[in-house]
Amino acid sequence: QVMGVDSSTQATKALLVDGDDGTVLGEGRAPHPPGTEVDPRHWCDALDEAARDLLGSAAAVGVGGQQHGMVALDAAGHPVRDALLWNDTRSADAARDLVTEWGGPQRCAELVGSVLVPSFTVTKLRWLRDHEPDAAARVERVLLPHDYVAAHLAAPGTPPFTDRGDASGTGYFSPSAAEGTGAWAPDLLRSALGRDVDLPAVVPDGASAGVTRAGAVLAGGTGDNMAAALGLGLEPGDALLSVGTSGVASMVVADPVADPSGLVTGFADATGHYLPMSVTLNAAQVLDHQARWLGVDHDGLAELALSAEPGAGGVVLLPYYGGERTPDRPRACGTWTGLSPATTRADLARAAYEALACSLADALDHLTTLLGAEVRRVLVVGGAARSAAVQEILPAVLGRPVALPPQQEYVALGAARQAAWALAGTATPPAWPAPAGSRVLEAAPTPHVRERYGELRERTAGWS
Ligand code: XUL
Repeated sequence: QVMGVDSSTQATKALLVDGDDGTVLGEGRAPHPPGTEVDPRHWCDALDEAARDLLGSAAAVGVGGQQHGMVALDAAGHPVRDALLWNDTRSADAARDLVTEWGGPQRCAELVGSVLVPSFTVTKLRWLRDHEPDAAARVERVLLPHDYVAAHLAAPGTPPFTDRGDASGTGYFSPSAAEGTGAWAPDLLRSALGRDVDLPAVVPDGASAGVTRAGAVLAGGTGDNMAAALGLGLEPGDALLSVGTSGVASMVVADPVADPSGLVTGFADATGHYLPMSVTLNAAQVLDHQARWLGVDHDGLAELALSAEPGAGGVVLLPYYGGERTPDRPRACGTWTGLSPATTRADLARAAYEALACSLADALDHLTTLLGAEVRRVLVVGGAARSAAVQEILPAVLGRPVALPPQQEYVALGAARQAAWALAGTATPPAWPAPAGSRVLEAAPTPHVRERYGELRERTAGWS
């Protein structure tokens, strides 16, 4: 038996699974505090709670976590301030400054595989230097959320570690360097923070990083998107849409990617390949806000939306409530147009789902255009994929069928698969059967919905 952990933005989820085939044997869950800055010690408490009844049975453990977050530690290993998360946009100026200082978007993509946006850890370190210099001066080590949580599980004396997938979201790691295994770029980190810090060891994909306090094998862990790809067993030609706190379009590819337009990030994956992705900051929250404003729950919102005609009576929403990352509009707000006295509550509900589907469709287009890859199958996972309205409106907006794998914690499952891999010591991950029981979602295409969304997106391009 092996355990996988998903330390996500909202909660910690733990799965105990059969290491031979991935059958789920037990689960635990504990919430995280809300917000885009969080004391990282809460994640460890949440892990202790979620894993309490599972950890004792696990021969190996893997930890997947929200990418990018800055966990800055002092000499004693204590956080110098709350962690700044991937969806915190306060480092927008820092991101633009660093891209310029490093020689522009093209050069930035060559150096670290991606053009920096405020999600990247390095931009948060620059923000810290500029706004909280006392805290910045005490930083001795910087970890990512999954590194910090895994260190909590590790036996005393285990040196801090990370993996190449999550490291590629820092902005001071080159995923394609050193013949494809990736390498830290400490000079870039220094240029952001103004000082050198200790960097964690990068555990090779599938290797063991040590043991837990209970003596179980500890895998290197990885970012949540890399873990989800491993949990789903994505194959070449599979494009994954994940609709959680973030909206993500990703594909596993063999060669490194560096997109100077910044629309696609060139991350490594957790299996020796690469996981380029296009990421939005506004996914599940678009539906949360809409349900709150209309005074309904999520089922009620879906029911309302499905009672409206495609196109929502002309109402169009750009759902950039928390700023946006793709497109890069860190200071944007949501924008509604097309409201009239004829607009109904059902139209307002439908417009929210259509907006979510359009921003995912954009993300998928960015990815497939850049890769020039043939998409064999589009899959959708994540909490919002449970919604009947997402299941109907997403294929309608994409204009193609979408596969819906059975509901499962794929990040935790992927982390468990990585644990089984580290335990087995094999060259490739264990061949767990692909999740059985996928459904294919189909709907009549509604191209006019995306056209209107695209027009509004272009018309508002200069607003932030
Ligand atoms: C990916 C990203 C998000 C977080 C969510 O670049 O920022 O998907 O990993 O946890």
